[in-house]
Amino acid sequence: MRGRFIVLEGIDGAGKSTLSHALTERLSALTAAVLTAEPSEGYVGDALRRAGAEESHPLLESLLFVADRAHHTHIIEGWLEKGITVICDRYYASTLAYQTASLGEGFRPWLREMNEKVIIKPDLTLLLDIDPDGGMDRVNSRGESSKFEKTEYLREVRKQYLKLAEEDGFRVIDASRGPGEVLEEAFVHIRGLLELI
Ligand code: TYD
Repeated sequence: MRGRFIVLEGIDGAGKSTLSHALTERLSALTAAVLTAEPSEGYVGDALRRAGAEESHPLLESLLFVADRAHHTHIIEGWLEKGITVICDRYYASTLAYQTASLGEGFRPWLREMNEKVIIKPDLTLLLDIDPDGGMDRVNSRGESSKFEKTEYLREVRKQYLKLAEEDGFRVIDASRGPGEVLEEAFVHIRGLLELI
């Protein structure tokens, strides 16, 4: 049987990283599961990590995120064909939310169209929703700062995410609660998808 494709989305500091590791550990006890993330480990992913550290144009970044996704989708497809469940930390919704927030609403249809050429439709997308002020607290307490981590910007990214959640049927999880509660809610959705008891 083909593996299931589960995507986690949310603004910086929403707790995706903690949740993705906890979910993968739990799932691995029940079925073959792998954790992957974007930007990917490929060379375009490396370029994007550099772009995050330096000043680069949002149009260039948009194209790189989509190029990286084309490569990553191919790898994901291989796992799914082998019956492995894939948990992916960020996918096309990240580009639609973050790059629309950078470039403006007028670029949204273009970003959507480009992505449609390179993606597989996820079986389930969980959106970890949190107010950027809450998210920023967590980001700051990790001692990280980058141009992506600005409250006003993240407010717009969150707005874009919530719009996408309606359009594309994401499950929205209140991520302002503790990691244990968030994990339990996420697992309820996943259990339903995988028909696990
Ligand atoms: P990520 O590695 O998830 O950040 P962190 O683990 O530090 O929270 O992603 C790095 C940044 O890249 C993050 O701010 C979101 C941004 N990003 C986009 O803007 N567009 C995209 O398509 C993706 C995949 C990430």
